Amino acid sequence: MPTQASVIDHPFANPEHPQSPHERVLFVSDEPSGMQCVIAIHDTARGPAYGGCRFTRYPDVQAALTDALRLSEGMSLKNALAGLPFGGGKAVLIQPDPMPDREAVLRAFGDAVESLAGRYITAEDVGTSVADMQTIRSRTAHVGGLPDDDGRDGDPSPYTAMGVHIAMRAGAAHVFGNESLAGRTVAIQGLGSVGYSLAEHLAREGARLVVADVDATRTERAARLLDAEVVGVGQIAAVDCDIFAPCALGAVLNERTIPALRARLICGAANNQLATSADGERLVGRGITYLPDFLVNAGGIIRVGLAHLGRGDEVTVQTAIDEIATRAQAVMTLADRSGQTPARLADAWARRRLREFDAELDREVVVHG
Ligand code: NAI
Repeated sequence: MPTQASVIDHPFANPEHPQSPHERVLFVSDEPSGMQCVIAIHDTARGPAYGGCRFTRYPDVQAALTDALRLSEGMSLKNALAGLPFGGGKAVLIQPDPMPDREAVLRAFGDAVESLAGRYITAEDVGTSVADMQTIRSRTAHVGGLPDDDGRDGDPSPYTAMGVHIAMRAGAAHVFGNESLAGRTVAIQGLGSVGYSLAEHLAREGARLVVADVDATRTERAARLLDAEVVGVGQIAAVDCDIFAPCALGAVLNERTIPALRARLICGAANNQLATSADGERLVGRGITYLPDFLVNAGGIIRVGLAHLGRGDEVTVQTAIDEIATRAQAVMTLADRSGQTPARLADAWARRRLREFDAELDREVVVHG
């Protein structure tokens, strides 16, 4: 059977923001390869929707759809807050079981991306690699996170980790009165591409690490090379620590985990850490400072986004990632002053930037024209 696609325009809106529905959601299935994907485009007011492609197992298509919608709206906020001229979108690939030919799945996904003619640009996310992006590149030009001419491999993860580390130092300055993380205990949930790189930054700075991962080879490596203490995945959120860094899953901050948290600061890479917006208030109620995920984990998209614009040199990227700290400081200061949660403030700030981008674009044209 040939590839089948169905498109829904203006279909889904977050109930908390009904005025901001997704622009387009595409379901594509390709029977020969077993590829099934959802590509969700939330908002293209700032430019083409740029967001990674997650490749994982889902219990059903509905679960994949829900994930794609939440992640793509998050990309609109992340890109807007980072000042990038990109909208928000995300793709999820439902891992076929069995999967005889991974490359065939990725090529079929590349065709689906190509069918959107540049309205969506893909890149790495959980479950996809630089090599996967090279396979997708054989079918479409609308893909980032590729090796560049200077020999850098294109993986956004180290840059995401760098941004989380910078934000964590800003958070420490605010919460503990000192940005240094030397001697602080940081609990890291998930030692994948971002979590392990973050652990390396922290170990270099002299932080004490407590880590958990479902994959024992990753925790063993951190114990051996970074002197990390390993705890079970069910314990990590509640260990005695100064800072908790969720770097694995979404919805880890919820009504069950929040009462048990012992950290005073939360700063990690995982997308959609708050299960509900009420959990932001729960954290404030416990006196815990939460740095919003879409603010702090923008380093990777800043790197691939600037590379896409031909401005991916290290100095420009580093300068743009450093600004994450300035935004984190602004949100924490305003949260203290206003009594609003950092998550709500960052959300409102990003949504204002979504609406106000035309004026910003005009300024860009004047500056560079
Ligand atoms: P990854 O797939 O490389 O790493 C995730 C790690 O979490 C794996 O080591 C996995 O074994 C572990 N894990 C899974 N379930 C767990 C559990 N219950 N408890 C503890 N560990 C568990 O993913 P990556 O790229 O490091 O991303 C991590 C998070 O950061 C994801 O939520 C991702 O969406 C988000 N993110 C990643 C970016 C990037 O540049 N890679 C950019 C922005 C956000």
